[in-house]
Amino acid sequence: MKHLRKAIYAATLLLAATAVGSGGSANAATGKDVFEAKGCGGCHYTDGPAKEKTIDDQLAKKGPELFYAGSKFQKDWLGKWLADPKPIRPLKYNSMTEDNPGDHPKLSGGDVAAVTDFLMGLTSKDVAAGKVKPKKNPKGRQIFTKKMPCSGCHQYAGRKNKLSGGRSGPSLVEAGVRLNPDWILAYMMQPEAFKPVKMMPVFAGLLSDKDMLNISRHVASFKPKKKK
Ligand code: HEC
Ligand code: HEC
Repeated sequence: MKHLRKAIYAATLLLAATAVGSGGSANAATGKDVFEAKGCGGCHYTDGPAKEKTIDDQLAKKGPELFYAGSKFQKDWLGKWLADPKPIRPLKYNSMTEDNPGDHPKLSGGDVAAVTDFLMGLTSKDVAAGKVKPKKNPKGRQIFTKKMPCSGCHQYAGRKNKLSGGRSGPSLVEAGVRLNPDWILAYMMQPEAFKPVKMMPVFAGLLSDKDMLNISRHVASFKPKKKK
């Protein structure tokens, strides 16, 4: 009797898992259609590996590549952002002078979940899971603000939550909610797998593997201050 119950339980679990699995991929397939129908593909490519080889290739891009979106972003953040996009880069994409116009297209209704599922399915084999635990990391903080020029190009919440840092790179304010901690490390260690043509200096070789982990933990710990 006990065995039978166990077997039924296992079969039910299996059924549930298959239902979730196929439901998920149906949604992702719908999301892919929505992505094309809404013209997202006009500014973003979703098939890897990275296509750009020269600065001109990069300057011709109208938006960031999304072929590893599922490894880069956190799902909750992605869904919220697609429904209500707020500027990530302080400056307009590919510009060093103009402000980000903040006019990114919005999605609504069922399109949000479908496109989120589609993008979260686009993962990269270059991102190993479970390496970076986001944690307050004094060593990483010191690298970010003092030892390396990170803060010269990236905004972050500084002392007393004051918006600090430079504007030429994407804002890292609340990056711990937006980015997958393991992606941050993979990107720091091996930027060419994601952005072969880039403005950010390569730190691989400059920072030890341990410090790469420290800095990734620190960036992954950028979260909204808890309301008291
Ligand atoms: C006219 C070009 C254009 C179109 C059309 C467009 N995007 Fe974007 N997208 C951009 C730019 C530019 C950014 C960078 C925005 C920022 O930094 O604030 C961006 C950023 C993003 C990001 C974050 C990527 C990152 O690495 O920071 C996602 C996800 C995204 N777009 C999805 C979509 C989806 C889904 C659609 C279709 C509904 C879409 N985009 C339509 C230009 C476009
Ligand atoms: C000279 C300016 C500059 C410096 C210095 C710099 N970055 Fe960047 N960073 C950028 C730019 C620009 C990008 C966007 C991609 C690109 O073009 O390289 C970027 C992208 C990133 C991203 C991905 C953000 C996203 O949403 O796509 C992370 C994380 C990051 N940098 C962390 C760091 C850390 C940590 C340091 C210090 C060790 C650092 N950066 C130093 C300019 C800089």
